[in-house]
Amino acid sequence: MYAERVLSGMRPTGRLHLGHYHGVLKNWVQLQNEYPCLFFVADWHALTTAYDEPGTIEENAWEMVIDWLAAGVDPAQATLFIQSRVPEHAELHLLLSMMTPLGWLERVPTYKDQQEKLEHKDLSTYGFLGYPLLQSADILIYRANRVPVGEDQVPHIEFSREIARRFNHLYGREPDFEEKARAALKKLGAKRAGLYDELRTRFRQDGDHQARDRARALIEEVQNLPIEDRERLFGFLEGEAKMILVEPGALLTEAAKMPGLDGQKMSKSYNNAIYLRESADSVTKKIRTMQTDPARVRRTDAGDPDKCPVWQFHLVYSDEGTKQWVQQGCRSAGIGCIECKHPVIDAVLKEQEPMHERAQAYIDDPTLVRSIIADGCEKASKLAGETMRDVREAIGLDYT
Ligand code: TRP
Ligand code: SF4
Repeated sequence: MYAERVLSGMRPTGRLHLGHYHGVLKNWVQLQNEYPCLFFVADWHALTTAYDEPGTIEENAWEMVIDWLAAGVDPAQATLFIQSRVPEHAELHLLLSMMTPLGWLERVPTYKDQQEKLEHKDLSTYGFLGYPLLQSADILIYRANRVPVGEDQVPHIEFSREIARRFNHLYGREPDFEEKARAALKKLGAKRAGLYDELRTRFRQDGDHQARDRARALIEEVQNLPIEDRERLFGFLEGEAKMILVEPGALLTEAAKMPGLDGQKMSKSYNNAIYLRESADSVTKKIRTMQTDPARVRRTDAGDPDKCPVWQFHLVYSDEGTKQWVQQGCRSAGIGCIECKHPVIDAVLKEQEPMHERAQAYIDDPTLVRSIIADGCEKASKLAGETMRDVREAIGLDYT
């Protein structure tokens, strides 16, 4: 139940580009081999800023899932689903909203930042303020302990940890918690119970996190331990209450330096992007016409790769030999810019070839994508349903 689990979401804002691929998707493809992964379309999150243009979200969602699949996200390994198709997210969000201090939300740095950035839009809405709380519900409902995100999202993960802690503190309390935890410990058998005690002491006295992780693994291994007891033993390790919701940690994705065609960050709004499923002709043309070192006016002028966005592409795509060839050739005017761009064009096209191939099947038969998502939603609903049962019970709203 508390095994390692990865979860991440992406807002459906339009076609994905190479920045998404090198910054996020490559990492997902790697993670799906290592952990059980859940990846979802955060369509409600898109609605927090696009509430006045909702018609775009659904189409973007389907296209985005095709982009994921094209990039190599494998539905046989990872669970892919759409947030709004698992309405338990909304129920958890609502319940959490009852115990979330407004000040916590107002202090999340992305709140003011985004409002200022999107100043043409009225974002003084209830939903937008609640953005990080909805994200917390997304994470906590799967008891996901690893959340791959970029640097900008780290405050949201920290916020989710605080929410989980507050929830456990409020609703995981029971009058005779310690006795119940001790009774649960007995069910582990003398040997395991002894080891648990030792590891718990090491964690609580000396702050030994490895000891805590070992104790968690120990509980994990026990078959047929009732969920309640498991929650008590997890909670007893760290405090005085059951651990109903798990505190997640950020899995920081190294910000891949994928520059745009003009050397700024690649972004749709800067109009400097190469899209994952862009045609070979169009990609070739974009790179051919891309800016180079402005000081290199004539072929005979020497250039400086540090002032050239093409060099940034070489850093992502080229091997050592090619990079040396560029450095030398550019600085001595030994190569021309078109020549310099060839290896980049080849590398991007080669990277995209399998993406086009994978995508084709889904374009030819859209029901394939629909059924991948239907499957994923079903799996996600099952997991979300289990957590919600515990959550309702802890709050005292299970009406059984
Ligand atoms: N806020 C995230 C972003 O803008 C998207 C997101 C929504 C998310 N829910 C999530 C990411 C849960 C990780 C986990 O990128
Ligand atoms: Fe840029 Fe290459 Fe031209 Fe130098 S030779 S300016 S690195 S494109």
